[in-house]
Amino acid sequence: MDHAAARALLNWQIELGATEAIGDAPVDRRDLPKVPERKRAAADASAAPPPEAADPVAIARAMAEGAASLEALEAVLGTYEHCDLRRGARNLVFADGTSGARVMIIGEAPGRDEDLQGRPFVGRAGQLLDLMLGAIGLSRAEADPNRAVYITNILPWRPPQNRDPEPQEIAMMLPFVERHIALAAPDLIVPMGNISCQALLGRKGITRLRGQWTEAAGLPALPMFHPAYLLRNAAKKREAWHDLLELQARLREGT
Ligand code: URA
Repeated sequence: MDHAAARALLNWQIELGATEAIGDAPVDRRDLPKVPERKRAAADASAAPPPEAADPVAIARAMAEGAASLEALEAVLGTYEHCDLRRGARNLVFADGTSGARVMIIGEAPGRDEDLQGRPFVGRAGQLLDLMLGAIGLSRAEADPNRAVYITNILPWRPPQNRDPEPQEIAMMLPFVERHIALAAPDLIVPMGNISCQALLGRKGITRLRGQWTEAAGLPALPMFHPAYLLRNAAKKREAWHDLLELQARLREGT
């Protein structure tokens, strides 16, 4: 083949879409021995094993542990793609109040108002929560760590129709919540409602758990009724008041 013919052939390959040369010698695949389909599939599989299916919880843990500040944690959570709830939500709801506060409240998930505003506990349940906290001298607007609170949820995205979160959704978010607690560094935690207790204590049954000191994420924790539950069951406010006084007494003791 002369130079001009070789060049024409090369141009023809380029026009067909060839972008690189992968061997010095051409291979005529019509002359290769036939490999039965099943054997070929097995050979392909052993030559290039598929990458292990990504474990969303392990990815969440690695991302959360890499966050050195609350700002970094919020940013990294915003890039976490494995939880489908984010696709139906308007906003990521990270936290409100004062980080460094002695008390950290952990609710369930944003509702409609929280999703719209991007802040936790701003709807009716949140208004009741503010009243409850105010009754024992605590406020999310306060800067003094002794009287401030820091508030977040187990899930940062609103579940569709406010449905309960799936166990896998909780599992994916837990590494972020645990890191959130470590970075906010409260003296104690108040898990509010069943979902929060399930996530942080591995136990459900808020009616039995509430008002009893336990431990979560290595810190003293006092489970309480969720304010949305109190809005529907006003008679339970009596027990919630008892729990608030218990929280206040513990804060006065020092931890
Ligand atoms: N309920 C919650 O658990 N969290 C919110 O932020 C609002 C309602």
